[in-house]
Amino acid sequence: MRAFPFAVLAGIFLAACSSSVRPAEQDGTDLWLAAGKPYGEVLASVQTAIDPALPAEGFHIYDAGGARHIDAGSEAGLRYGVYALQRAEALGQAGPGMDLQEKPFYDLRILNHWDNLDDTVERGYAGLSMWEWTAAEIPEARIRRYGELCASIGINGSVLNNVNSNPLMLDAEHIARVAKIADILREYGIKTYISIKWTSPISLDGLKSGDPLDPKVRAWWKDKADEIYAAIPDFGGFLVKANSEGQAGPQDYGRTHADGANMLAEALKPHGGIVMWRAFVYAPTSPDRANQAVEEFLPLDGQFADNVIVQIKNGPVDFQPREPFSPLFGKLRNTKMMMEFQITQEYLGFSNHLAYLGTMWKECLDSDTYRDGPGSSVAKMVTAVAGVANTGQDANFTGYVFAQANWYAFGRLAWNPELSAEEIADEWVRQTFLKPEGMSQKAFDKKFVAPVHDILMASREAVVNYEMPLGLHHLFGGTHYGPAPWDRMPPRPDWQPAYYHKADSAGIGFDRTKSGSDNVDQYNEPLASTYENLETCPENLLLWFHHLPWDYKLASGRTLWDEICLHYDRGIQTVEGFRKTWQELKPYVSPALWEETDRKLTIQANDGRWWRDANVGYFQTFSGRPVPEDVEPLRTPIDSLIFRVLLSDRLGMPQHDEEGNPIIVSMRRFRRP
Ligand code: GCU
Repeated sequence: MRAFPFAVLAGIFLAACSSSVRPAEQDGTDLWLAAGKPYGEVLASVQTAIDPALPAEGFHIYDAGGARHIDAGSEAGLRYGVYALQRAEALGQAGPGMDLQEKPFYDLRILNHWDNLDDTVERGYAGLSMWEWTAAEIPEARIRRYGELCASIGINGSVLNNVNSNPLMLDAEHIARVAKIADILREYGIKTYISIKWTSPISLDGLKSGDPLDPKVRAWWKDKADEIYAAIPDFGGFLVKANSEGQAGPQDYGRTHADGANMLAEALKPHGGIVMWRAFVYAPTSPDRANQAVEEFLPLDGQFADNVIVQIKNGPVDFQPREPFSPLFGKLRNTKMMMEFQITQEYLGFSNHLAYLGTMWKECLDSDTYRDGPGSSVAKMVTAVAGVANTGQDANFTGYVFAQANWYAFGRLAWNPELSAEEIADEWVRQTFLKPEGMSQKAFDKKFVAPVHDILMASREAVVNYEMPLGLHHLFGGTHYGPAPWDRMPPRPDWQPAYYHKADSAGIGFDRTKSGSDNVDQYNEPLASTYENLETCPENLLLWFHHLPWDYKLASGRTLWDEICLHYDRGIQTVEGFRKTWQELKPYVSPALWEETDRKLTIQANDGRWWRDANVGYFQTFSGRPVPEDVEPLRTPIDSLIFRVLLSDRLGMPQHDEEGNPIIVSMRRFRRP
């Protein structure tokens, strides 16, 4: 018999082993509940008790007397305990002697659905509204599944409709419908809220005014609150966008945000409801949109009723791929504040680009505001957290398996903002992707979990790099999917990319220093000086705070122009790295999920090049400099991109060709969603 060398034999053995590895069949519709045991089974495996000494939503999992126990402060706490055990089991952390005691960091952990009554979803990329407002019946099965998913990560509130609200949301028909949804969500520990339109008393009942100090207006809102609570006794309250982006509000009557919020708060107060009043305001008259929220809200500090929470977006402009934290978090002292994150990827490639936002949200939550001295992190300044949902009617809820990670991460951080983005990414991968048959856990961890975790962790920075690096922001056009740095379209300057990048032959960037818009002074020291000073301003926010010459030298010793080009290139190369890794992962992931991700990564890489060609090409018309030789050359000349847009469908979804290239068309063929 021929003797084979050991290495050859080992190779044959390994090949045999790997060929017996069969990826599990899954399509992403189980989300992060894929790997865990069913809830009922986990519940049946433990002894439960309500212990009023524990925090209301808290739980304690432990082993005693040969049995596993979950004690909790309430039914809701028990549910969270069972899901925590399910998660621990799926993660291999539920061995004998388990002892886990938890309670949520924030009492309010709320999803904001920007869903409209015609079933479209503002900035929604996963199909029409999951609530199916126009259907005869509410979609009970989907709502139950949503309830399970939310409860499993600790989300306990849901605002059902768009902040750009429709007055009809408050008519009898819709209140009855909301009550039906609330009846289901209640079973999962979720309170129901709605967004209201300021002018509802005028539109629905013909009142002459919306003045919050007008007794008739006040009486209308009181009656409306009574009507809602008669149908939904545990109704959560109202979310309000007022005097923002064309929405009416108390300022139209010479009143303040506090007057408006307090009027609604008074109506809700007897029923235990709250008002979440948004601080997303800006006026075209302000020299810097980033300054507006502090200018309007700081003078009102201390004037809001105790059942009002001011809801503030994480950054001062608008959910950009990178912004500094909103300075308002460090300014208000006598006002309850709530974080607003955006889970739906309005500015990070919709449901096409892989962009794990756990890292972005941690960056914000961990930022020190210095409000009460060092250690005053944003996480500690806010008392509640909201996230703009990325859900729709798509079978997988979010339009992309990797977009599910952001819903998951939002819930986990709202429960415990001290968790790391790494931990959450790791948890999500392990619970979402099933281990192939015939593969050891150790091999799966090494060959699949670790590389996917690494992709997640690098993904947000990749998007920043190929969309708008070094502090650039709002370079978007049209639907906010693609680049339009050339856009100077009326009506508002602060809707135009040129307002933000301010590129000219001398340089690029928004001067927010003391000699510019003085936005730096909205930050507490030492941050104001840190941002003001070029030596200390973080490089990733450089062009947010400074307008700099093209030949300004960065820490690397290279010019600003070269670094801009390098960052765009780095973003593209990172996505190319994801694509390569994903090819290698094919044996371990179901064909359906593999194909979906493969196609989307191709789109992402192509979109990245489009972003690069458009921005670098356009800025080059000012800098007049060549693209450095050590980066991939531009592919498409700027002349064939400028003033052109991506073809979108009826719902504003971007269109790509068979090869995953964006279909760029002239403005005439562009459709607004
Ligand atoms: C962004 C977004 C709008 C949204 C607004 C808001 O501007 O593009 O669609 O209505 O934010 O948060 O109110």
